[in-house]
Amino acid sequence: MVEIVFIKDFKNHIDQEVKIQGWMYNKRGSGKIYFLELRDGSGITQGIVFKGSVSDEVFAKAESLTMESSVKITGKITKHPKLENVFELQVSDIEIVQLVTEDYPIAKKEHGVDFLMENRHLWLRSPKQRAIQVIRNTIINGIYEYFNKNGFIKIDSPILTPNACEGTTELFEMEYFDEGKAYLAQSGQLYIEAAIFSVGRCFDFGPVFRAEKSKTRRHLTEFWMMDAEAAFVEHEENMKIQEALICFVVEKVLNENKEELATLERNIEPLQKIKAPFLRKTHAEVVKELNEMGSDIRGDQDLGGDDETMITEKYDRPIFVEKYPAEVKAFYMKRDPNNPKVALCADMLAPEGYGEIIGGSQREDDYDVLLGRIKEHKLSLEAFQWYLDLRKYGSVPHSGFGVGLERLTGWICGIHHIREVIPFPRTINRIYP
Ligand code: 4AD
Ligand code: MG
Repeated sequence: MVEIVFIKDFKNHIDQEVKIQGWMYNKRGSGKIYFLELRDGSGITQGIVFKGSVSDEVFAKAESLTMESSVKITGKITKHPKLENVFELQVSDIEIVQLVTEDYPIAKKEHGVDFLMENRHLWLRSPKQRAIQVIRNTIINGIYEYFNKNGFIKIDSPILTPNACEGTTELFEMEYFDEGKAYLAQSGQLYIEAAIFSVGRCFDFGPVFRAEKSKTRRHLTEFWMMDAEAAFVEHEENMKIQEALICFVVEKVLNENKEELATLERNIEPLQKIKAPFLRKTHAEVVKELNEMGSDIRGDQDLGGDDETMITEKYDRPIFVEKYPAEVKAFYMKRDPNNPKVALCADMLAPEGYGEIIGGSQREDDYDVLLGRIKEHKLSLEAFQWYLDLRKYGSVPHSGFGVGLERLTGWICGIHHIREVIPFPRTINRIYP
């Protein structure tokens, strides 16, 4: 029996006869020789079929192979005659698992994004899409690794909730048996705030939902968020934790995903420059800078997508934009004691025009102040009673933040539109496939 190996492990089996299992991605050649581009999920390799060295039957199989046909292929692994660290398979036998008899919809020619999105279930197989998913996986693991090393416990927050977290206009709602309305979580933050009183520092990681009407390259209606929260951490330290996390994750991708970054033609120089400390600017400073650059944003407004693009194209490091006007931010943010018009918050904006990847703040920890905010925002006191309780029994200063996985992955991969970095994107006008 020939050993079945993964293409990524070819370097350990040079000159051995092995079998691979996968799909034929592309084929060149004719008459006497075929070059099969083969992929098995772990990598891509070239299989060479010489008419002279295989049986007529095997050669006929090579001739018949169509794009995306599934195959098991036996051959000897050899070093590429010219390229370092590239290996080939000198094919001796072919077993066809399924011969594709229809034209594969995604041929090698250029397709429009709508067509590709409609065929997302097939598009995922392309080398670039595979590379994005592999890097996304590294980022997810990097986030877990960082938190596990730094004493944060994973707490799973609920998806079905009785109240909003981030404003009531972007909620997906449903009837919940006899209990009235339920909403899909926009962030697990409020729940992991409860958990810090049990475990001190924690994080969650899961899908969140926003009925966003926006059709921008930065918005999905379903995306993955990692929220982190820590007791006795104030605004400044909150930013330090975020900085360290992002540096850790970027370095891990640079170390582990060289091939995938190359497949994506990602210029890694900007990523190599990601070192703490990141820039820190107040919202007021950023507004002034933007006005000088031609934006008409005012001091009492949130940054728009175009503003974020403009400001982050200017710098080669992430920027914390601190102290937004409290009016444009969520009800739970603590105000700056030196200027109650602004919140003790910071958004982390990624460089190269990518914009916000993290939103975070110190939380209001005073019962009466928080009660006032809940009333001002016309939120249901009943639904938030449990959240207010946290300010009654051993309240402490605490802070946290939420990372949008697709925003982070999009930036690291250098992908313009975040719908490409989630396997099956949901946007205002897409729920298929
Ligand atoms: O800034 P946001 O709304 O903050 C929160 O939800 C806080 N509760 C987080 C916290 O403090 N624990 O969202 C956090 C991040 C954003 O910075 C952005 O990266 C991402 O989530 N995000 C989106 N990503 C894709 N599509 C959308 N519609 C997004 N909305 C926010
Ligand atoms: Mg935000």
